[in-house]
Amino acid sequence: MRVLMVCLGNICRSPLAHGILQHKAKDSIFVDSAGTNGYHIGESPDPRSIAVAEKNNLDITTQRCRKFEVQDFDNFDIIFVMDGSNYRDILKMARNEEDEKKVKLIMNEHKPGMNLNVPDPYYGGDEGFDNVYKMLDQATDAFLKRIADEKTG
Ligand code: 4NP
Repeated sequence: MRVLMVCLGNICRSPLAHGILQHKAKDSIFVDSAGTNGYHIGESPDPRSIAVAEKNNLDITTQRCRKFEVQDFDNFDIIFVMDGSNYRDILKMARNEEDEKKVKLIMNEHKPGMNLNVPDPYYGGDEGFDNVYKMLDQATDAFLKRIADEKTG
């Protein structure tokens, strides 16, 4: 399975989602991340995301920002977006229904059907990053539990 994590800048939320899921899933899932805009291409994650990851014994320093591209619909089975704005931006690039079906709000794994956003922490303080980490920890746990349950039937 291949999972892509998407946010706006690919420096705050999606690098954390990428690192957390990859750490939990080890080699069983290929994980990557991308942004809907290109402001930070080639950059490392935001220092505040690196710090909250480190606080939780996770190293995300080797990740580099890239922009979402239409080929990602072919290369990934699931495209998790962080908020409704990401969702609309990615759906605009979908070529067909198959592409559209791959795009999911990540918090719906933890709270199905509620369409909750992972809030953009970029302009706020450190507590926003702690909150993002906690939400993504819950969402990735729920996702892994769901796919394990689906496998065992
Ligand atoms: P992210 O946060 O989407 O979680 O990576 C942002 C990072 C950068 C910007 C906005 C949001 N920006 O405008 O540069």
